[in-house]
Amino acid sequence: MSTALITGASDGIGLEFCKILAGRGYDLILVARREAVLNEIGATLSAEHGIKCTVISSDLSKPNAAHALFKATQKEYLQVDFLINNAGLLHNGFFTELDLGSQENMMTVNMLALTSLTHLYANDMASRNSGHILNVASLAAWMPIPNQNIYAATKAFVLSFTQALHNELKAAGNGVTVTALCPGYTATKMMDNPDQGAKLSIPSSMMQSAYEVAEQGVDACLAGKATMVPGLSNRITAGITHLFSKMALAKTAGSFYRKNLSQPSQQK
Ligand SMILES: NC(=O)c1ccc[n+]([C@@H]2O[C@H](COP(=O)([O-])OP(=O)(O)OC[C@H]3O[C@@H](n4cnc5c(N)ncnc54)[C@H](OP(=O)(O)O)[C@@H]3O)[C@@H](O)[C@H]2O)c1
Repeated sequence: MSTALITGASDGIGLEFCKILAGRGYDLILVARREAVLNEIGATLSAEHGIKCTVISSDLSKPNAAHALFKATQKEYLQVDFLINNAGLLHNGFFTELDLGSQENMMTVNMLALTSLTHLYANDMASRNSGHILNVASLAAWMPIPNQNIYAATKAFVLSFTQALHNELKAAGNGVTVTALCPGYTATKMMDNPDQGAKLSIPSSMMQSAYEVAEQGVDACLAGKATMVPGLSNRITAGITHLFSKMALAKTAGSFYRKNLSQPSQQK
């Protein structure tokens, strides 16, 4: 039986990854900060699918959290065949007004923890000549986004890092694949989280379900693809970004975000 480790397993797209992989017979290692929520999810999925679930509570914004997580799985002799680096944070608003500590945490979770976990588990997988890694980027990775500029930059890092690594691993022929998943707006708590600063109002018709996004990510990763942009309209948007200069994209995104972002005090 194969084992998948999912970060950000307690909610949103991460929870859907867990349900999908449990349904396909994977044992799961569930990682997030809220241990009680993970225990509940683990108990439900074990009972429904007869799989083994291990819960590891970890705050990936803390120094060395990725190393501690890797060590914890090694100590328990848990072999990770499928790693999903899904945990991520979003903050909207004007760069100079946003809390710097929160931005640093976001950069740590979105980039540093993801990179360290990829390194640690890719080496482990390569020693067995087999393994899959799915890194969750975003459609935001494809353009500079004023008022969401650090988030978009962290996701551009994830996309660029993952696409380059995909090529390296393929050339090395060590049996390990890595895939970047680039969801557009997805109906999860992230879109409504008061911690994210200003709120972006997006009509529900523009949002994909977390299940659809997760399923397309899992299938693309198991098929060894470099990149997956789920949903036709998101794929068209990603394609269009190649037709314009980065500054033209920033201008368009900037006026869209300035029109649709409401400050926390304006939120109902
Ligand atoms: N929703 C969208 O529109 C959208 C679009 C494009 C890309 N994405 C990306 O998709 C991924 C999942 O997003 P989502 O929408 O499912 O978000 P979500 O519903 O807000 O869930 C975020 C998950 O990350 C975990 N998490 C947050 N901070 C963490 C930390 N410091 N350490 C460990 N775990 C942490 C949360 O669990 P705890 O609170 O229990 O720690 C939760 O399980 C993210 O990388 C996001 O950037 C989302």
